[in-house]
Parts: sequence; structure tokens; C-alpha cells
Amino acid sequence: MSDISFTGRAAVVTGAGAGLGREYAIELARRGAQVVVNDVGGTINGIGTSHAAADQVVGEIRAFGGEAVASYENVATVAGGERIIGTAVETFGKVDILINNAGIVRDKTLVNMEEESWDAVMNVHVKGAYCVSQPAFRNMKEHHYGRIVMTASGAGLFGNFGQANYGTAKMALVGFTNVLRLEGERYGIKVNTVVPNAATRMSEGAMTEEMHKKLKIGSVPPAVLYLCSEECVDSGMCINAFGGYISRSAILTGAGVVGIETPEQVRENWHRIVSMENPVFHNSLPEMVTSILDNDLIRKG
Ligand code: NAI
Repeated sequence: MSDISFTGRAAVVTGAGAGLGREYAIELARRGAQVVVNDVGGTINGIGTSHAAADQVVGEIRAFGGEAVASYENVATVAGGERIIGTAVETFGKVDILINNAGIVRDKTLVNMEEESWDAVMNVHVKGAYCVSQPAFRNMKEHHYGRIVMTASGAGLFGNFGQANYGTAKMALVGFTNVLRLEGERYGIKVNTVVPNAATRMSEGAMTEEMHKKLKIGSVPPAVLYLCSEECVDSGMCINAFGGYISRSAILTGAGVVGIETPEQVRENWHRIVSMENPVFHNSLPEMVTSILDNDLIRKG
């Protein structure tokens, strides 16, 4: 089997000055991609700015003969998103790949969460994904090709104490993926989500030393690079990647019960209503509703 190559592909990686983003940018460039290394260069809480992070990674890529250009823009503004994608288009002529990876944390339990911590996390993860994806999507639509990877988190998918803002923001990106998957279908744009766990500066405080040792950062890029490749023709996937383990998580729906008309019937049927035996995957909201309305028992009234 041949190696996965990105020769001729222009990629944008947000938050690529450190951690996982840096790994993606370097590996994409090693495999021939031209890369925009975007990073605002702040702390894990989103404080401060610096050109050093993005410059360092661009330097590393150029040192092995790869092609990269730095962008220091904040993903969380429309103007920043336009300029990040503008850099790719002006330098490399287009954008084929976008990895929405930039992220911050401001962990607090709900009762202690101030508006500023809520907004800061929403802005970088959710608004940031919108601000960068929109101009990227427009360019990809024009040339009928695109691969977008969102970055979610188990904090949203499975829950994590003290991360109400972060878990909510990360789960929003699963919804964003589900919608963009449908909007990109006609234009060859595949949109998927990665759910990583890796030893980075961000995860340091949230993991035991033992976990940090096992969650080697290099276990995440293989999944992300595959999702960015031409060979990945799936869209809407949510892929967990950590410690050499890769799997899919999905929103599945139980078989449920039809003909319920009173709260007492809900009570009587509760165990069947919440049972996840024989779950079904639905491709879209209309497909989900139609499949239920077409159910024989409902049709017969
Ligand atoms: P990191 O802190 O090492 O890297 C994040 C990078 O994003 C930093 O270089 C930072 O400067 C940049 N960034 C932050 N705000 C930005 C903005 N507004 N505009 C541009 N750049 C910005 O963190 P790590 O661990 O590499 O995280 C990467 C992504 O993976 C994040 O989205 C994070 O939420 C997510 N994630 C990480 C997990 C882990 O175990 N490390 C677990 C689940 C999700």
C-alpha cells in the first residue's frame, strides 16, 4: 500500500504553534502539504499573544524542506478567520484542508462560572470554528474539494466535572460537523471530528502523571491525517484517538415505543423507552423523523 500523501494540498491548522496542532502541521508538511501554521500564541487560558509559537513551528517545517507560512490571527473573530484563510489562498492559491484545533480552557464548576470564562471558551472553540470554517468552506466549494476536521472532547461527549463551558463548546462542534457534512456533500467537502486525549500543556493539570505518560501525543495525528486525506471519503464521523486506540462514537437512537399518550404510559414503558437495545443511526433530522412517522404502528394510528 502506498503512503498517504498531501502533495499539492494546501492546509490550514489553527492552534498549530503547540501541542496537537504542531504535530498535525509538521506531519502534513512532511507528507508534502503546504501549511498555514496559525497560532495566537497565548496561554492555555487564552491570555496574551506571541508570534514565537507559530514562528517556531514554521521554522521546524522549513528546516526539513517543508513549506509553511505563519499566521498569528485569533480564530475567534470573523476578520481573523478571513485573514487565516486569506493567507492560505494568497500564499498557496487555495485551501484543501482545515483543522480547527485552536483551543483554551477555563475550568470552573457551574456555580463559580463567570460570564467571561463562559464566553472566552465559547468564542475560541465555537465561534472560532465558524469564523475559520466559513471562508474555508467557500474556497473549498469553489474548487469542489475539502477536508475539515473539528476538535471535540470527551468532556462534552461523555462529561467531565468542572468543564461545563468547555464540554458544551466541544459538543457544539459535533453538531456543527453533522450540519456541515450535509452542506458539503455536493461539493466534495468531508467534515469529521476528532476526539483526542494527549499529553500536552493543556491536559497536564487534568490527568494523573501515569495517564500523561500513556497518552503520547503521537497517537492522535494518524487519525487526523487520515481524516484530512483524499482517501477518507466518510463524512460526519466522530473519531476518538488516544494511546494507540482509535474508535468511532456516534449518536444512536433507541428503538423506542410508539402510541404513548399519557405521562402514566411513559412511566409504565420507561425501561423500554430508555433501552438502547438495537439502536439506530440516523443520517439527518428529516430522515430520523420520516423513519419514525413511516413506522407501521404510527401509520395505522
Ligand atoms: P495546547 O494548549 O497545547 O494548544 C492549543 C493551541 O491553540 C495553543 O498553541 C494556543 O496558543 C492556540 N490558540 C488558543 N486560542 C487561540 C485563538 N483564539 N486563535 C489561534 N490560536 C489559538 O492544547 P492541545 O492539548 O494541543 O489542544 C489542541 C486541541 O485539542 C484543543 O482544541 C483542545 O481543546 C483539544 N483537546 C485536547 C485534549 C488533550 O488531551 N490534549 C483533549 C480533548 C480535546
